[in-house]
Amino acid sequence: MRRCEMLKENKEKFKNMGKIAIYPGSFDPITYGHIDVVERALEIFDKVIVAIAENEEKRPLFSVEERLGMVKAIFTETPNVMVDSFKGLLVDYVAKTNAKVSLRGLRATSDFEYEFHMASMNRSLSPQLDTLFMMTSKDYFFVSSRTIKEVARLGGGVEGLVPDLVVRRLREKFKLPVTKRKHIGWDD
Ligand code: PNS
Repeated sequence: MRRCEMLKENKEKFKNMGKIAIYPGSFDPITYGHIDVVERALEIFDKVIVAIAENEEKRPLFSVEERLGMVKAIFTETPNVMVDSFKGLLVDYVAKTNAKVSLRGLRATSDFEYEFHMASMNRSLSPQLDTLFMMTSKDYFFVSSRTIKEVARLGGGVEGLVPDLVVRRLREKFKLPVTKRKHIGWDD
């Protein structure tokens, strides 16, 4: 499906969806940290739209189609999650929905400055849009798409940090053999 097609086609649908949060990001690839934020947001919002940014300048590992495919497969049995992609400004995308909130996960204070600037810029562009931050759960505060890609590229195990589907896609991307190596977590 082309970018924003879903939103254009179904714009009317948003009127009766209740409280909607947009969860924007690169999701290159999606991690359990992201999934944890979505699951917790569903306790607060009626719908969460995972909005995958098409930003070629960031030179993503996975194409937007590949990212859409993975995220849709992961949330296929979660009816209150919609998955879409967008190009251009987030505020323009959000304006096409009834959402008033952009959702972001915060792992550590080091995330804060970047997030604070982005939230402030978005609010300046669109005063109706608020950014809601959720602290990442303790099990995932060290997990980022960037480190997942680096570890996977170098042959390390990322099982338990990203869904199995993502593990497989990373291995395909980096042409690595399938391994049974288990990630060593805090509790191991
Ligand atoms: O997962 P990321 O890469 O930290 O997500 C960043 C993202 C996609 C949310 C941000 O770059 C974004 O909103 N891009 C769309 C362009 C935009 O609206 N820029 C102005 C905000 S400063």
